Amino acid sequence: MDTNKSLEVIRARIGDMRPKVGFILGSGLGHLADAVQGEVFAYSELFGFPQGGVSGHTPKLVIGMLEGVCVAVFGGRAHYYEHGIADAMRVPLEVLAALGATQLFVTNAAGSFRKDIPPGDLMLISDHINFSGRSPLIGEATDKRFVNLVDAYDPDMRARLAKVALAAGLDLKEGVYAWYSGPNFETPAEIRALKILGADAVGMSTVPEVILGRFLGLKCVAVSAITNMAAGLGNEVISHEHTKAMAPLGAQKLEQLIRGFLRGS
Ligand code: HPA
Repeated sequence: MDTNKSLEVIRARIGDMRPKVGFILGSGLGHLADAVQGEVFAYSELFGFPQGGVSGHTPKLVIGMLEGVCVAVFGGRAHYYEHGIADAMRVPLEVLAALGATQLFVTNAAGSFRKDIPPGDLMLISDHINFSGRSPLIGEATDKRFVNLVDAYDPDMRARLAKVALAAGLDLKEGVYAWYSGPNFETPAEIRALKILGADAVGMSTVPEVILGRFLGLKCVAVSAITNMAAGLGNEVISHEHTKAMAPLGAQKLEQLIRGFLRGS
């Protein structure tokens, strides 16, 4: 099995290091992987990890220390839109859980619906809307597939992040994230519909990972780096280039937030 084969490669190099928190880094947010001192695994060395990928992502796993905490950082993710596979991050997350991690921290780039959460800001995800209609658990044959998603975004981890943000002077509003399949961006009519449904931001990732995370018993939290106002709500032309150019604005704040979160854990 890919998970076991990957674990064998990883364990042979990390010895008894046991990551506590796993991070999945979104578009343009991958530099945090370089701040971790530890073992670096190219996804191509591992089994069942996403190959190829999307520009702006760093396809490597780093396991090591950050702010005195053992972490596992996934510098890149597979998206549903790449191959139409909703559980493309299942093996990496199974590996994370098998290594002993108990927490999953997901980041993404997203388009905002709210004027009070403008590009450059972060949004703490309080809940999600699965607008894609896909689940990474389709095909899972056990009763474990019936995952409860109430408080999927762990209230304690969110409260800790809010505290860290306050202490650091970071404005961190909470909101609902909608998963849109991509890879095309949304139409303005879809954004108006999602707004009526209760979403505050939209993106093309995170939701399947959090579903898998909860399936595997990981406590999850997620933060969006807002790179643009969603389609029809702003003046900028939305593009992947624009997302990658804007993500570093949020990345600095995100690193501050993550470091503070780890220091308090
Ligand atoms: N829509 C979907 N995904 C995104 C966006 C957006 O507006 N911005 C960054 N990722």
